[in-house]
Amino acid sequence: MLVYLNGQFLSKDTAHLSVDDRGFVFGDGVYEVWRVIRGRVFEPDRHFSRLQRGLRALHIDAPVEVSMERLGEIAARLLSENDLLGGEATFYLQVTRGAAPRTHYFPPEGTRATVYASVKAFVPPEETRVRGVRAITVPDTRWLRCDLKTVQLLPNVLANQQARAAGAFDAIFIRDDLITESTHASLFGVLDGVLRTHPANHLVLPGITREVILELARDLGLPIDEHAIPARDIARLEELFLAGTTTDVTPIVQLDGVHIGDGVPGAITRSLYAGLKERLYGREAARAAIDAPRNGVVTR
Ligand SMILES: Cc1ncc(COP(=O)(O)O)c(C=O)c1O
Repeated sequence: MLVYLNGQFLSKDTAHLSVDDRGFVFGDGVYEVWRVIRGRVFEPDRHFSRLQRGLRALHIDAPVEVSMERLGEIAARLLSENDLLGGEATFYLQVTRGAAPRTHYFPPEGTRATVYASVKAFVPPEETRVRGVRAITVPDTRWLRCDLKTVQLLPNVLANQQARAAGAFDAIFIRDDLITESTHASLFGVLDGVLRTHPANHLVLPGITREVILELARDLGLPIDEHAIPARDIARLEELFLAGTTTDVTPIVQLDGVHIGDGVPGAITRSLYAGLKERLYGREAARAAIDAPRNGVVTR
């Protein structure tokens, strides 16, 4: 597997980081994940803008390769040399504040940020999208800058593991009695016929898929309300779904052991999934999603 590290393309086995890298020592860095379909990167500009915003917020000087053009070239070479131009893949990028003797304050001027990029084959699990998944709720113990895509993901890791241990697909964070998002996806619900999601403020990641879903919902003329869903309204939810780069639209049909709506993916969720598929793959695939059979079988 060929990867990119600090200006070099090299085999993953020979790619090494300093033990002083601030990504390793402090989680001092940001990352981004793009979806790639047959060599075409999905929503490249939006992901890039979010990355730039994160770098600015952390005061990390972006090295020269962190430009749209250069990243496009890096992605193209990694996809091509790893034989991933034919199917689906993800392009991962991580930028840290670089390697320097451990101090809490920033390293000396001129310390080069670390830039790492890799690609991976990705096969979207269609069954989870079509049949839906179980989830659990957990307290949102994260910091107050969840809008930044930093590599500090420990609360997300612990919560997702808790979900896995409970036989669920994901965990949904609750902060101050309001649903924020899941461990690695945005969250949407349908309550009283209205599509609800947390506002894009400091308590959630401004998901790119979230933006696409909101555009699709507007196109469909759905009523939208960007106000968080109170935990007390969970029992009244008609539909609930995850939205993310590697999650697409994944319906949640059971939360903490209780059915959401009829316990099967709802009509709004399915039409938004069809719309997302159309944006990802084109019209034919979208039709297949609408026609797909559904029943109560729940996968993790
Ligand atoms: C915490 C969190 N929220 C939301 C998302 C969804 O964001 P996107 O649609 O840009 O993938 C992610 C994706 O990794 C995430 O980690």
